[in-house]
Amino acid sequence: MTPTRLRTHLPRLLRLTLAALVLALAVAPVTAQFGRPRKPAGPWMDKTLSPDQRADLLVKELTLDEKISLLHGNGWEEIMSGPDQLPPRALGNAGFIPGIPRLGIPDLQMADATVGVTHSSVFGRYSTPLPSTIAETASWDVGLAREYGALIGRELRDQGYTMTLGGGIDITREPRCGRNFEYHGEDPILAGLMTGAEMKALQEQHIVGDLKHYAMNDQESGRSYVNVKAGKRAMRESDLLAFEIAARESGAGAVMCSYNLVNGDYACENDYLLNQVLKKDFGFQGFVISDWSATHSTAKAANAGLDMQMPESSYFGAPLKKAVESGQVPMARLDNMVHRVLRSEFAVGLFDNPPDRRVPDVFHGLEVAERVAGQSIVLLKNANGQLPLAAAKIHSIAVIGSHADAGVLSGGGSGQVDPIGGNAVPAAGPFGLVWHRSSPLKAIRAEAPAAKVAYDPGMDTNAAAALAKASDVAVVFVNQPTSEGDDLRSLSLPGGQNSLVSAVAAANPRTIVVIESGGPITMPWIDNVSAVVEAWYPGTRGGEAIAKILFGEVNPTAKLPVTFAKSEADLPHPKEMLQPPPAKGDMQPMFPGAPWMVNTRRYDIEYDEGLLVGYKWYDAKNKQPLFPFGYGLSYTTYSYSGLKVSPAKVTFEVKNTGKRAGAEIAEVYATLPGAAGEPFHRLVAFTKVPLGPGESKTVTLDLNRHYLEIFNEDKNGWELVPGEYTIQAGGSSRDLPLKGTFKIGQ
Ligand code: BGC
Repeated sequence: MTPTRLRTHLPRLLRLTLAALVLALAVAPVTAQFGRPRKPAGPWMDKTLSPDQRADLLVKELTLDEKISLLHGNGWEEIMSGPDQLPPRALGNAGFIPGIPRLGIPDLQMADATVGVTHSSVFGRYSTPLPSTIAETASWDVGLAREYGALIGRELRDQGYTMTLGGGIDITREPRCGRNFEYHGEDPILAGLMTGAEMKALQEQHIVGDLKHYAMNDQESGRSYVNVKAGKRAMRESDLLAFEIAARESGAGAVMCSYNLVNGDYACENDYLLNQVLKKDFGFQGFVISDWSATHSTAKAANAGLDMQMPESSYFGAPLKKAVESGQVPMARLDNMVHRVLRSEFAVGLFDNPPDRRVPDVFHGLEVAERVAGQSIVLLKNANGQLPLAAAKIHSIAVIGSHADAGVLSGGGSGQVDPIGGNAVPAAGPFGLVWHRSSPLKAIRAEAPAAKVAYDPGMDTNAAAALAKASDVAVVFVNQPTSEGDDLRSLSLPGGQNSLVSAVAAANPRTIVVIESGGPITMPWIDNVSAVVEAWYPGTRGGEAIAKILFGEVNPTAKLPVTFAKSEADLPHPKEMLQPPPAKGDMQPMFPGAPWMVNTRRYDIEYDEGLLVGYKWYDAKNKQPLFPFGYGLSYTTYSYSGLKVSPAKVTFEVKNTGKRAGAEIAEVYATLPGAAGEPFHRLVAFTKVPLGPGESKTVTLDLNRHYLEIFNEDKNGWELVPGEYTIQAGGSSRDLPLKGTFKIGQ
């Protein structure tokens, strides 16, 4: 503003300033009520100090009762109540720990937010339902993962939340696991880097981040009572490596320990997992929060490394105080627990940037949701260039099945984001399936306005086949619903959908199958259809994204973050390891006072495939998958050449050999020297290379030494095995045209 303009505006400015002051005074109690207490001046508010120094200063100010109050929730009832019965200041969602206003300690307002912020409907709020995280991972794009995390973080902050319970990173060891859609695939390095990028960006929005469920919570069946037996090396090089990378990349403020037992101890009182590996070896400085009702003791858990019980106070409320007073839990340990919580809050800037509510940017949310979906849909089969569809040349299209007239499927459980405007298939709710209002049928009509696009629900196979026969092209939508709390009994499509696809394919050779699933499915009809697209649970703009892929407005770039098996017989455990039926006395309330009973019978499962998770299993056992890890087609083609390798770097050329612009995900794998005893290759680097038609680029990728190491159980440490390392590069774990070697000192 120039001086003249300033003079002209002065009286108005003064008026505005006064009005703003009056308003600020009037609003002050209101904002305090919403968890923004006025900042008390204390030395811990000095931003030049480190989060650790600030946390130490604050711990000194706290009484014993105040310390304890920061380490537990106050019961399921409180968070499960409707908006009218919430405790003062609680926003409602999964968890609430009141802060301490006299010292300016913020409330921990926790929300489940794996694929977007949950529990919006009951409060009349807006949150963007994003494509599931397995979809985001199929983009292999850490930049996109950052956008995904930033969006969720911003929408949490908009709504006044201060902590996410997202960050699911249990690896896909069991492809029938009901929560795979909330996780990041089967490879620890891909999963670790994608989750790490997502959580870092989320924390930049001043939200405490979380990684879950630590650890070996790779199936839902019997999840609270199953004792997972696995060797240290197997865990360190698979599941735990994913957590290690994500924790280091993101500096996540919290790690949620899981329900299950690992080698005899509950994960939330497991000294090996929490103290020795997470806190000591990974150098994790945040706090360990229990999964909901996954705490089983006071002193044992606290001394093993658990810092916070949620959502109850049964172990970390009064019993923790007693345990501290009696010396069972040393005061120094209690102080460390509190320090970790406060440190995480300082580190994300929660003290300096208290919640700042606003109406979420719906437009931005929808734009990101569609972009992520477009980057995550994997083209699995495209015989004779069936896709993309040329709208101008097609007169009639049959759209069949999976409520494609109404919307797209969502995954279920605590990661399920409420659909904008309500369930697109209301008969399926309130406890059934949830569908987002993004109709693929409408979107296909928009892409092909001149064509006759007819819909058949797919309930009557003959009717669907007749429509397919009368149309130029048939697009069959199929789905595989999955949810927290339950695993799939098989990878096969449920409810007669396989027969539907076969009947349609028999009626029309131009049959395209679009899959909405949380992970791999089997495809007995694969040889009879001309094209297959894996759309995962594609979120609130999924219909539009699918149509844009089908008509080539978006060129597919995504690749599989999980192996698709030909049949369950090829899995490490052809039969899922279910909990045995309850014996006498095993049926107990789920938590003290819970109105429902569960089978509490403990049982062991042996993850004897060890570190042979996903593609490593298929490689080591010489099995042919249906579609391998890292695989995905595009509407253009790529070639690879000129590999140069050293222990620190890999360089090669990628060329777009087709006629349209695209982006190739280039993958680098290493096979370790024979002495390592690992008869398979492992992903060690990847990048996404945008390329115009005919364009080539030189790609140079750093080789992270840690990703080449093995875990030596005897030495309890990582080491590089001396000998020859083979490096391969290409477009999928089973299509690696480039090969080179280097030696590491012998
Ligand atoms: C789930 C967690 C979730 C928590 C709170 C648990 O049942 O396993 O992933 O964050 O509930 O809703």
